[in-house]
Amino acid sequence: MQHLQTIVTLRQALDAHRQQGQRIAVVPTMGNLHAGHIHLVEQARLHGDIVVCTIFVNPMQFGRNEDLDSYPRTLAADISKLQDAGCDLLFAPSVQEIYPQGLDQHTVVSVPQVSARHCGASRPGHFDGVSTVVCKLFNLVQPHVALFGLKDYQQLMVIRKMVNDLCLRVELVGVPTQRESDGLALSSRNGYLNPEQRQIAPVLYQCLQQARDQLLQGEHFSTVESQASARLQQAGLRPDYVHVSHALTLDPAQSGDKELVILAAAWLGSTRLIDNIEVSLP
Ligand code: PAJ
Repeated sequence: MQHLQTIVTLRQALDAHRQQGQRIAVVPTMGNLHAGHIHLVEQARLHGDIVVCTIFVNPMQFGRNEDLDSYPRTLAADISKLQDAGCDLLFAPSVQEIYPQGLDQHTVVSVPQVSARHCGASRPGHFDGVSTVVCKLFNLVQPHVALFGLKDYQQLMVIRKMVNDLCLRVELVGVPTQRESDGLALSSRNGYLNPEQRQIAPVLYQCLQQARDQLLQGEHFSTVESQASARLQQAGLRPDYVHVSHALTLDPAQSGDKELVILAAAWLGSTRLIDNIEVSLP
């Protein structure tokens, strides 16, 4: 696996592959790779001749009081996992390489509407940071296809709208959420949980499954949301939101909408967990 840190060397390496007519697949990450990330890398192999993974803990998408400094950075372990997974090229640039004039001087790509709700409301500016860095990574790698996890459902919808609105020439693939055997969605932030919190954490997905079943039984959207919130609270989580939404626009679901997604975020101590479940009403 090639391991590159600069834009110049990345472009040289990928130009050579493109000239040979090879299809490039990219998996953008912030590192601290777990089986969910590795699954994306393995899926990328089905979509491209050259699999590129990027690791960049993007300061622009962290709020002032968030965990940028403590976010786990485990590059040596990540490299060995990527090698085992058959990744061809790792691009792991420095902050200086991506934001040479600092964050404040950098152009921002801001996707309206879909960025504003849900996690966007709780984390102002977060999705501007995501869309900006992903746009930049797309321009650097110029991939034919990019893979993202459905675990970060809203993130994928923000990126989809950016790609459509800006006519970016990249195919997007959403990959189903990989979970622990008790249902907890794999996440780098699960490492922040103490053993007691780790016991409670699967309740988030259990509540989403119950909420899905209630929707399928015809329960009102608002009742489903408030009951799921109450169940999270009873289990010891602090719900940030539980929203029944239109699966594509992520607007609040209206009666008659069939393709829905239930999005949820909840605090467990100082750790914020997110998860979601898609629902197709008959
Ligand atoms: P990160 O949280 O490292 O996630 C990288 C990719 O892995 C994302 O597409 C995410 O949805 C996916 N992923 C995470 N957990 C997963 C799971 N349990 N199952 C399947 N896929 C999972 O998301 C980011 O980084 C950043 O915001 C990024 C897009 C790289 C921009 O900085």
